[in-house]
Amino acid sequence: MQKILIIFAHPASHKSKINRRLIEGLKTMDGITICDLYEKYPDFFINVKHEQRQLIENDIIIWHHPLYWYSCPALLKEWLDLVLEHGFAYGRNGTKLHGKKIFNVVTTGGDSSAYNHPGKNQYSIKQLLAPFHQTALLCGMQYLPPFVVHGAHKYDSVKVRLDITKYQQIITGLRDNVFNEESIASCNYLNELITGE
Ligand SMILES: Cc1cc2nc3c(=O)[nH]c(=O)nc-3n(C[C@H](O)[C@H](O)[C@H](O)COP(=O)(O)O)c2cc1C
Repeated sequence: MQKILIIFAHPASHKSKINRRLIEGLKTMDGITICDLYEKYPDFFINVKHEQRQLIENDIIIWHHPLYWYSCPALLKEWLDLVLEHGFAYGRNGTKLHGKKIFNVVTTGGDSSAYNHPGKNQYSIKQLLAPFHQTALLCGMQYLPPFVVHGAHKYDSVKVRLDITKYQQIITGLRDNVFNEESIASCNYLNELITGE
């Protein structure tokens, strides 16, 4: 069984309609640790050694956040800046994360059509996530396609329930090594592993 660490960043999770529910759907699962950054570090003083220990103890890491200005909320950026230290995550002796898997779970206000050519935005989600992808590669990690929930501005409770179930299935599938590497690599979004959508 793979141990999974979810680094969750939402600055106002009490107001969240999507992410809070996605996270709640995972809370009782075995082998999953949820690290709610804004709950743990409301003053932005991140305990770097603790975060590094958590990374070492887990096999799969997830950066889970809403898309804010085509990127992540500020505290996740702070986490990247502080936790992925030279000599720990990268550099000649910085090999602690080598071989681990990592990916983003992202919710967007915009519909999927806004992120597909010729949509409203010039870039796709995968293009926008390039800094995360490259960060993972520099740290010797395997970067998987993202799990994405689009269209948060048009809240639909039935769709949210389906997304919660799909997220649970992805997480259990990764934890239990159910998916083969080729099918993961061929996805645009990990969502496709469940429905072929
Ligand atoms: C500061 C801020 C920036 C945002 N930037 C984007 C954006 O760049 N693209 C987008 O599609 N949605 C954007 N949104 C919408 C959020 O992604 C959306 O509200 C969120 O995914 C909904 O999840 P929640 O219900 O868990 O809060 C932004 C929202 C806020 C508050």
